[in-house]
Amino acid sequence: MGRRSSMAEHTGPDPGDDPFYQTIEVDTQVTGTDSTYEDELSSCTKSVTSIRDYRQEHGRRYHSYHDGRYLLPNDEAEAQRLDMMHEMMLFMMGQRLFLAPIADNPQQVLDLGTGTGIWALDFADRYPNAEVTGTDLSPIQPSYGPPNVHFIVDDMEDEWAFPEQQKFDFIHARFLALGIKDFPKLLTECFNNTIPGGWVEFQDWDLNMYSQDGSTTGTSIEQYYNIGIRAYEKTGHVVSPGPHLEQWFHEAGFTEIHVQKYLLPMGPWPKEEHLKSLGMWNLLQASTGFEASALAVLTRYENWTPADVVHLAEKAKLDARDRNIHALFDFYVVYGRRPL
Ligand SMILES: C[S@@+](CC[C@H](N)C(=O)[O-])C[C@H]1O[C@@H](n2cnc3c(N)ncnc32)[C@H](O)[C@@H]1O
Repeated sequence: MGRRSSMAEHTGPDPGDDPFYQTIEVDTQVTGTDSTYEDELSSCTKSVTSIRDYRQEHGRRYHSYHDGRYLLPNDEAEAQRLDMMHEMMLFMMGQRLFLAPIADNPQQVLDLGTGTGIWALDFADRYPNAEVTGTDLSPIQPSYGPPNVHFIVDDMEDEWAFPEQQKFDFIHARFLALGIKDFPKLLTECFNNTIPGGWVEFQDWDLNMYSQDGSTTGTSIEQYYNIGIRAYEKTGHVVSPGPHLEQWFHEAGFTEIHVQKYLLPMGPWPKEEHLKSLGMWNLLQASTGFEASALAVLTRYENWTPADVVHLAEKAKLDARDRNIHALFDFYVVYGRRPL
């Protein structure tokens, strides 16, 4: 835990008595000019026909099953970003895929909104006796992989139709921010589809970007998040599920609920090495993430031109790479157990 300094400058939620609060020290060491900072940045830069009848729009590709439900692309650039975020999470969580104290020998495991399936594939590798199911609106998962994993196209916001005998001992969901409208209903479905004694874990963002030193105030990155969040709120998608997960787990009936909050910087501005690397991962994913997250919502619902969205995303990206702007997010891992 660090000192609680510069509180007058702190933007975003008041840390108050937050037990997870930690002041992140900025790396002020003069490593050279802005170009060396740039070098530092660049050195790290290294079925059914209709469900594949994807929507193509403004140079990006979107899911077609329940067209319009999810507003981020499902193309190769987005797949690469998701896989990058998987690495970021492993790094953040000490190479753990989850925190829930599940049994040593899980049988039936579900990964909701599996994306490229990378979490499910890793889990299946680590637990060869488990049967792992990944669901998503997009069939973008690889057809090769361990024999104990399979993927299905499904909308998790519809009624679930898993057979009675297929209750899960572990359900996992990650990065559903901007994707889901009714989390309490989703968690009730999770509860009903978990065996007594089984575990559910959600890992998700609070996308209210902030800084501890006021350095994000008045910036384009702040403008980007304000505009994006307002637009998603109008469509009814939940932008920041992280801080609400604990309450939703309670309401759904889970017990033994555990909350872990991580600080996720954007950019390599922290002095501490682990946070610096984490910030670099976050910056890398954001390099395509700014546009991916804003393009459909702003052009479809807010009448922006694609060029204006790209311009806004570029300005946010420049700010994210600016050593003087210290953007930060809270990220939550919450798990709970269905009582025996
Ligand atoms: C940001 S991605 C996260 C992917 C994956 N969970 C991960 O951690 O890499 C969100 C995923 O949720 C999926 N999704 C969004 N809404 C959905 C819904 N209603 N039903 C099923 N999948 C959904 C999207 O298609 C997308 O692949």
